[in-house]
Amino acid sequence: MTTTARKTATKAKTKAGPAKSSPLIVGLDLGTNTTCIQVADQQSGKILNTEIIPSIVGYTTEGILPGIIPGDSKVLFGQMAIKYKLHLNLVQPLKEGVVSDMDATRDFLIHLKEIANIPQGQETRAVIGMPANADAASRENVRLAVTGIFDKVILIPEPFLAALGSREEKSLLKDSYVDPVCNSIFVDIGAGSTDVCLIQGYYPSGDDQISFSIAGDAVDNAIQEEILAKYPDCQISISKCREIKEKHSFVQGAKSSILAPVMIGGKIKKLEVAEPVGTACDTLLNKVYEAVRQLIVRADPDSIPDLLKNIIVTGGGSNIKGFDKALQSLLTEEGFEGCSVLSIGEEYKSHVASGAMKAASQAKERQWQNLLS
Ligand SMILES: Nc1ncnc2c1ncn2[C@@H]1O[C@H](COP(=O)(O)OP(=O)(O)OP(=O)(O)O)[C@@H](O)[C@H]1O
Ligand SMILES: [Mg+2]
Repeated sequence: MTTTARKTATKAKTKAGPAKSSPLIVGLDLGTNTTCIQVADQQSGKILNTEIIPSIVGYTTEGILPGIIPGDSKVLFGQMAIKYKLHLNLVQPLKEGVVSDMDATRDFLIHLKEIANIPQGQETRAVIGMPANADAASRENVRLAVTGIFDKVILIPEPFLAALGSREEKSLLKDSYVDPVCNSIFVDIGAGSTDVCLIQGYYPSGDDQISFSIAGDAVDNAIQEEILAKYPDCQISISKCREIKEKHSFVQGAKSSILAPVMIGGKIKKLEVAEPVGTACDTLLNKVYEAVRQLIVRADPDSIPDLLKNIIVTGGGSNIKGFDKALQSLLTEEGFEGCSVLSIGEEYKSHVASGAMKAASQAKERQWQNLLS
């Protein structure tokens, strides 16, 4: 991808559209793997749109013939970029939850605005989730990336937004309810990193969080390594391993056999992959258990009984079958009685953005940071 093609891609999309009067608020979860944007009208609070899209930008390669890429676009995003990846330079705008390619991030954000139907020229205020351990430079990079795209922003640690997103309506509360914003541990198993964070009523800092790079991608790599050790000629790809994991993942020996169809030399063969999948998922489970245990021990002793009732697993990795119950058993066996671990399930994709939306609707005027346009 040439710089010229990138600039054209950005410019083509910044034409002003018709402006509306009432400001819009946006909740944004910029993930390494998946991004979610929610849009609402600030006055009524009505949610107007939710979009979930793979965080990937594809720029056409030099010399591509007309008619190959739909509409002869110079840039494609999300699923379309993945579909046409053979003819594109794929760029991941974010890595480890922070901006890694500024131009691609800006192109991606402009595209997000378009698919979320935000008219150019309309005042738009965004609450954006950041890793709890993001440094000042990473936060400044996000501000730079959204300058000229949104009008005002608030950056809030992602686990705090996840806790806000999990808060139940007051009318539904039981006596035993512990507000996750006041006292909880959030385990976010993403693609590039797992973040385990203690939340006790204030914005968590790096000290409240334990992060490690054993997460979805590392599980895929471990599965691939073990399958290749078992079947050296199978040439199994990482994307196939990810597909197998997303379909069959399990922990603590819950499955004894998984027969996965894999293409070998043009023929489909069924390979036994239960052991590689189980071993890789167990490694992740044990890392998470160790981090949760460390954070419980760090918390104020009086807060621990309630904290134990609120251990919440989110992110794509929370879909590993049986993960929450296995973590709960490990903690109970260790002596943390009365602990309860819950997975957020499929909703994880919009969870941080929903929390960001709640934060946006509660924000005071002085909390919004103006962005220079
Ligand atoms: N059913 C499933 N079983 C196991 N893993 C899954 C399943 N569904 C998704 N995943 C994994 O979850 C990971 C993506 O999670 P998520 O969308 O939360 O990441 P992200 O927020 O974009 O990344 P990060 O938090 O690292 O910035 C991928 O590794 C994916 O394979
Ligand atoms: Mg994430």
